[in-house]
Amino acid sequence: MRCSKCKERAIAYLKPYRIALCGKCYPEFYLRLVERSVKKYGILKRKERILACVSGGKDSSAMVVALKMLGFNVEILHIDLGIGDYSKKSRKIVEELAEGIDVPFHVVELAEYGFTIDGVDVKKVCSVCGTAKRYLMNRFARENGFDVIATGHTAEDIILFFFKNVLSGGIEWIPKLVPRSEGGGGFVSKARPLFERSEKENILFVLAEGIPFLADECPHAPRDAWKEIIYDIEAKRPGFKQNFVRGLVRLAKNVKVDENWELRRCKVCGEPSSSEVCAFCRYVMKFKK
Ligand code: AMP
Ligand code: FES
Ligand code: ZN
Repeated sequence: MRCSKCKERAIAYLKPYRIALCGKCYPEFYLRLVERSVKKYGILKRKERILACVSGGKDSSAMVVALKMLGFNVEILHIDLGIGDYSKKSRKIVEELAEGIDVPFHVVELAEYGFTIDGVDVKKVCSVCGTAKRYLMNRFARENGFDVIATGHTAEDIILFFFKNVLSGGIEWIPKLVPRSEGGGGFVSKARPLFERSEKENILFVLAEGIPFLADECPHAPRDAWKEIIYDIEAKRPGFKQNFVRGLVRLAKNVKVDENWELRRCKVCGEPSSSEVCAFCRYVMKFKK
């Protein structure tokens, strides 16, 4: 198979775009896709100070390199969750990546708050981890004057979030489907510049650019059958993922959710919270050794 642009040997055929590309032409193609999403959906602005949250996996690594190459003002935050060797390797890789692209690197350790994810002895470790990550990202971004938090969520992540929430009922989660949500009341704005990108597009970019990333999965991450279902649909209907997330943005814009809950301040840490003590502080009390 030959590259559709330069006729060199192609590294991949991208069905949704009906194009084959080589390792040299692919990064440019990928960057234009990211740039187009960012512009079309107003995901990021040139003058903003962006906090790119990077786990060390392929998606967030691709995101920060793409944003840097597109000329955005980015800095990296890595959260050390205290997950044995996995966290040690992740942190090292993100540090190496930051140095390689000359982007300031910040790290926050969950252990500073008195517990680690390895020390969480409940079934739903991932949900504790998710709460901790969101809390630490927001707090760090606000306290350090960032305008927006960027994460590497992909089209698969957004569709997964949709399926799981549809099944559990309610509609209050629908506004979260947008690629950019504005902050306020102590919350920093959030951006998902890769929401139209697939994991395959991201991995091709990191491989073609030689970007360091960790291929290991988190040892606590359960195998997600939904992801395989999404891949199956995409295999039968190329372009499904992109079309679906675009549809979800239209849905989110048209669904008005009555946000009738009062935003308070956590009486322990002072961060914004819907309850007297925020979910993160409740976990700290529960798991602190
Ligand atoms: P996940 O919650 O693991 O699906 O990750 C979603 C996004 O959150 C990633 O694409 C990253 O942008 C960010 N993220 C996840 N883990 C970390 C971490 N340990 N440090 C910084 N950012 C992270
Ligand atoms: Fe949070 Fe695996 S990264 S539990
Ligand atoms: Zn709190």
